[in-house]
Amino acid sequence: MARAFQDRSVDDVRAYWNARPCNIRHSPKPLGTKEYFDEVEQRKYFVEPHIPGFAEFPSWAGKRVLEVGCGIGTDTMNFARAGAKVTAVDLSSESLGVARQRAKVFGLEDRIDFVEANAEQLADFVPPRPYDLVYSFGVLHHTPDPAAALRSLRRYLGPESMLKIMMYYRWSWKVFWLLCTEGRFRFWDLDRIIARSSEAQSGCPVTYSYSRASLGQLLRGTGFEPREMFVDHIFPWRISEYVRHEYRKVWYFEAMPEVTFRWLEQQAGWHLCATAGPR
Ligand SMILES: C[S@@+](CC[C@H](N)C(=O)[O-])C[C@H]1O[C@@H](n2cnc3c(N)ncnc32)[C@H](O)[C@@H]1O
Repeated sequence: MARAFQDRSVDDVRAYWNARPCNIRHSPKPLGTKEYFDEVEQRKYFVEPHIPGFAEFPSWAGKRVLEVGCGIGTDTMNFARAGAKVTAVDLSSESLGVARQRAKVFGLEDRIDFVEANAEQLADFVPPRPYDLVYSFGVLHHTPDPAAALRSLRRYLGPESMLKIMMYYRWSWKVFWLLCTEGRFRFWDLDRIIARSSEAQSGCPVTYSYSRASLGQLLRGTGFEPREMFVDHIFPWRISEYVRHEYRKVWYFEAMPEVTFRWLEQQAGWHLCATAGPR
């Protein structure tokens, strides 16, 4: 465990995500309505357009998917809509409450089992058995002991199963920007600087970040064989407009040709997406 997070517990993580579930403000419409959920999804995949390609929702039709850290369930709904049978786990009861309501609104309740559980001790809540896909997007870097969580997830992979995870990328534009601005070049305190501003709500208790090499090492050390890794996603929007659901890029991204911006996202994006099989 990195020294920056050694005093943080799973209870701290749960309290943080219960206070403000991930993407809960993606729509100003009345929470829990179809219009609200449609807008949440539209905004999520507009801002993070690489997610559907990474998740490959249609490939999991008729398959069993274990989603760890489902949040308010945007990807969960898309696995279920595509015809997967989903077990969706999260630590945060508040997030799960919204995700359950979402499944109800879209008539997908019979395709999704929601479970409130800690990924680090998943076998206490979900009986280990092979799933076709174990999927966790933007979650395991927030748990105090990611290696424990991955060891626990390994029990849900059979010989043909696949793991897909997104973890934050250490050598990203976002980390560089945080270090140069509010971090005031205190590189020795980088983990804490990143955690303070990694999410929409400041002060995330735990946010690890990984290079390709360190994520590969973590995966191999916990029983996985990485097959593919890619980096994507730079957030180019001006925050003052973005919170009002208006989209205007900061001047240097506005001035950048789209092809250059895409190149930069693929070199220094914030999302390190990895696909792995059992080792
Ligand atoms: C950044 S949100 C991502 C949610 C969702 N995957 C998405 O992309 O919208 C992180 C989620 O991980 C959950 N989480 C963090 N640590 C966890 C753990 N140890 N076990 C289960 N869920 C966890 C949080 O409660 C939160 O809902």
